[in-house]
Amino acid sequence: MMTKTNKRRTAESCRYLRAVHGDKLVIPPVWFMRQAGRYLPEYMTIRKENSFLEMCTNPEIACEIALQPIHRFSLDAAILFSDILIPLVPMGANLSFVESYGPKIVNPIRTDSDIERIKEVNPDNDLSYVLKTLILLDKKLPHNTALIGFAGAPFTLSSYWIEGKKPEPFINIKKMMYNKPDSFLKLQEKLAKMLTDYLVSQYKAGADCVQLFDTWAGVLSEYEYRKYNLSVLNTIFDRLRAHRIPTAYFVKDCSHLLNALKELHCDVIGLDWKTPLGHARSIIGPDKALQGNLDPTVLFADEHIIRAEVRRILAESCSNDGYIFNLGHGILPGTDPDKVAIVIDEIREGNKRIAEV
Ligand code: CP3
Repeated sequence: MMTKTNKRRTAESCRYLRAVHGDKLVIPPVWFMRQAGRYLPEYMTIRKENSFLEMCTNPEIACEIALQPIHRFSLDAAILFSDILIPLVPMGANLSFVESYGPKIVNPIRTDSDIERIKEVNPDNDLSYVLKTLILLDKKLPHNTALIGFAGAPFTLSSYWIEGKKPEPFINIKKMMYNKPDSFLKLQEKLAKMLTDYLVSQYKAGADCVQLFDTWAGVLSEYEYRKYNLSVLNTIFDRLRAHRIPTAYFVKDCSHLLNALKELHCDVIGLDWKTPLGHARSIIGPDKALQGNLDPTVLFADEHIIRAEVRRILAESCSNDGYIFNLGHGILPGTDPDKVAIVIDEIREGNKRIAEV
């Protein structure tokens, strides 16, 4: 059993964890979704020699890639290098990542017998390379840099697994949801069971907090989100809370879901860039930390625009207890790493410069 329970990093040593616990910090902690990846030349150097799946399944390589943005930018948190779709492989998905196409699953889930055939996963055996990556990262990270584990949320994972590819326009998943709600819920429950075990194992291997990515749940109306998603998510968060594991949840296109997100039993809510932080705070209330929400395409604008946008977001968040700076979605391929450095500089040094004037 791969267990690492004495945490090296605590809310005392680590600004990200302080914010997760609701502390108000003058300079907020900062990390970026998809901070390790193709926009970094040092990632592309390793990528040229390895397929993406080889990189995810080799702990030494995955550890090195997760550390690349930490070495370059001194961020407040590192995130495990892996992918949300990886645990579907031991469940039975025949997954590949195809150049200029994205994820592809050639045996999608469509029928009750497909759901019956899903294999139970033992993360310690079936996903041991992920846990080894976390153990390596745990040893190598400084005490002030949090280690974030992650997984995909059940709705988002099933949208890829049912469609077999990028899920838009969500016809097959919604068809199952409407026509066979019992089958759909059975699939969600199987995923929830796997995800709980997987995230507990990630925590034991060294993760300080775990984030569930529910990228596609914004295609649900609030009514559907409550009917098909909320309680499944809360069974996962409740079980993680029983282990005292800090939790974060990100959903893209979430503006219409804020009242439902308030009811999630997690510690942090990640917001997309279209949702005003102040408005989200007024609905979600003071009990959760908020994370976000610079538009990733702002990083393609000129420096003075980037700095102004960062200041605008910091101003919106200033009354927030528990706030973590991030983008409203992942860093896009083609982003100039120097623009990422400008964001961090504006967060950490911008306040001081304004005070000096
Ligand atoms: O954030 C990080 O730096 C950690 C690693 C990470 C990856 N994917 C690496 C990756 C994380 C947290 C993810 C999450 C993920 N993966 C999500 C949720 C967040 C989001 O972006 O909405 C989703 C929906 C996926 C599924 C996925 N993985 C797609 C659609 C693709 C292909 C398109 C794309 O963005 O590249 C991937 C591949 C992938 N995942 C890459 C990386 C670095 C690119 C692999 C390559 O080098 O070709």
